[in-house]
Amino acid sequence: MLTILKGNILSAPEMGKIEAIPHGYLVAEDGIIEGIYPVLPDKYASAPVEDYGDDLILQSFADLHLHAPQYPMLGMGMDLPLLDWLTTYTYPNESRFQDTDYARYVYHRLAQELVSYGTTRVCMFSSFHTDATLILMDELEKAGVTGYVGKVGMDRNGIPGMMESSTAEAISETDRWLAACHFEHIKPILTPRFTPSCTNELMAHLGKLATELHLPVQSHLSENRAEIAWVRELHPDCEQYWQTYAKYGLWNDRTVMAHCVWSDEKERQAIRDAGVTVIHCPDSNQNVSSGFAPVRQMLTEGTKVSLGSDIAGGDHLCMFDVITAAIRASKVKGMIDDWKTPFLTVKEGWYLGTSAGAAFFGEQPGFAKGNPLHAIVIRDDTLLNPRTMSLEDRLERAVYRRQKDALQAVWSAGRKILDRSTAAK
Ligand code: GUN
Ligand code: FE
Repeated sequence: MLTILKGNILSAPEMGKIEAIPHGYLVAEDGIIEGIYPVLPDKYASAPVEDYGDDLILQSFADLHLHAPQYPMLGMGMDLPLLDWLTTYTYPNESRFQDTDYARYVYHRLAQELVSYGTTRVCMFSSFHTDATLILMDELEKAGVTGYVGKVGMDRNGIPGMMESSTAEAISETDRWLAACHFEHIKPILTPRFTPSCTNELMAHLGKLATELHLPVQSHLSENRAEIAWVRELHPDCEQYWQTYAKYGLWNDRTVMAHCVWSDEKERQAIRDAGVTVIHCPDSNQNVSSGFAPVRQMLTEGTKVSLGSDIAGGDHLCMFDVITAAIRASKVKGMIDDWKTPFLTVKEGWYLGTSAGAAFFGEQPGFAKGNPLHAIVIRDDTLLNPRTMSLEDRLERAVYRRQKDALQAVWSAGRKILDRSTAAK
């Protein structure tokens, strides 16, 4: 099956670089990108072309850290720092996902909204509830989203009703969940919520599963200073937070760690040595008063970094917003650090929200040959043009304006999962 899209094709083949092909062709065979061309190769001459005219054809987004059960509390409870925010707002809210009807309703809405923003790859936290987690995976699968979902591991330091009733149950429910995962595009990821939420026994079980089943791992790391101090009390044998994951086999190149706001040189070195991917969540870092992550420094040092909305610590689900938040956060960091590090450019921010996240799923940067087709079409012809606009100008404006209804169509793993366009023929 051939898919040929025509329009202004923009992609991020490397950090800080944009490849722009005006009125070009993006060709996929059986959902896998074959190439991008300024002129359609002869062999496709008789194939149907979806012509998007002067619209922009971009890579879709990867959101590598978000909490599905926090979706209903999006935009609320922003007056407390992390640990108080968790017990006061987040855990009571997540405890409602015991109710599978509620889970079905909320997760259907979440999946639809993700697609409407052009997010097609995720690493997502569910709650500790096994049945609701399977419902979440089912709703994402049906909506056409791809990626990983984790049943949250949590057998201590929750609140009543918001953690597993025992470690034995946490272990058996994790096993039950894994046995029931049978989705094509949504796969399981092991998810200790963060070190304070998991007994050593649960961490050890998750680490064993990671090794035996070769499963990826997601969690939180060095987000907030009170959290770091707590981890030190809980694991006096570990000099640094990352070691609490490493000692249980949860620290390797299939691990994503959200935040790393306070990771010092030694922790950053451990991140690089293991090939862990850092997920920067700028909205959340400011909303729950965690701090400003050393993103530029991590990038310069060669750490893998991509972006997460981290709803509902983060208040934006749309990755265009998260990209601009990352750029702004890097400017604030520059201002308070006397410009020791340069801020992120739009091209860099866009790379982090697209190609950098896609790398965790084994894709090459940009619309590379061999990648599954993940793409969006953006229409911007209702906006005023202050001057003759280059394609790069238009990309910058699309990122910052993030106009509602600009999105015309979405492809995910080769499938067209949203079509609002009247332009395509
Ligand atoms: N650390 C442990 N749980 C959470 C959570 O739900 N959100 C954030 N931002 N940090 C966490
Ligand atoms: Fe988080």
